[in-house]
Amino acid sequence: MRLGLSVLSERKTSTLSRVPVITIDGPGGAGKGTVAKRVASALGWHLLDSGMIYRLLALASIIHKVAADNEASLASIAAALDVRFVADDESEGVRAWLEGEDVTDQVRSEDVGLVASKVAALPAVRSALLDRQRGFAQAPGLVADGRDMGTIVFTAAPLKVYLTASVDARADRRHKQLLEKGQSGSLARLAEAIAARDKSDMERKVAPLKPAPDAFYIDSTDMSIDEVCSAILEQVYRRKLAEVEL
Ligand code: DC
Repeated sequence: MRLGLSVLSERKTSTLSRVPVITIDGPGGAGKGTVAKRVASALGWHLLDSGMIYRLLALASIIHKVAADNEASLASIAAALDVRFVADDESEGVRAWLEGEDVTDQVRSEDVGLVASKVAALPAVRSALLDRQRGFAQAPGLVADGRDMGTIVFTAAPLKVYLTASVDARADRRHKQLLEKGQSGSLARLAEAIAARDKSDMERKVAPLKPAPDAFYIDSTDMSIDEVCSAILEQVYRRKLAEVEL
């Protein structure tokens, strides 16, 4: 499957773009990343993994020894964050670069995810990243996944998906991914980490994780990735957002 994105660089935006955007929000481990990649590939659209930006900021804070609650310093780091996303044909995904180094594997760890969740709760950090995220909306279209893509960043998106699954199903999927990579991990500890991150993402004061009022809600607990992608592409077709082969 061709990934719609070659190298997507940010564009400075002063006004909201009219490029169509599909937002996919939901809790960690619900399959948003894989689904967003496949939908973007099927449509030939660009892809924004907004969680990756928060993860890169978290990693930058660890590298530069800035505390995860130092809002002013983190907001200035966020505004100037030197990140680059490069298409990775092998995984049909994107590799993330921070300050000139490929850090894709490092940023995906649960530890970095937890720090990301903390820095993401700081209002000044979120506003520093708002325009940067909107700059990814480029023709012919963008699929953006995260926590607040539909509720805050791309409120005019013509299709807003909220993708969730039970904590146990998400822990089970992460566990299988780890085993496939030859890494081990306790299922119970994964479930605990996922529930802790849900709590922090849903209960924070600024941009908490919640479905947009007009969201298309998908509970993928008993669904395959293919079924989820088909359900989204059917909505794309019904809403006439792009030509789709169903
Ligand atoms: O999707 P992810 O697991 O890579 O996201 C990492 C953290 O970043 C997540 O715990 C919450 C935060 N995040 C956010 O607050 N807003 C987004 N749009 C995306 C991620």
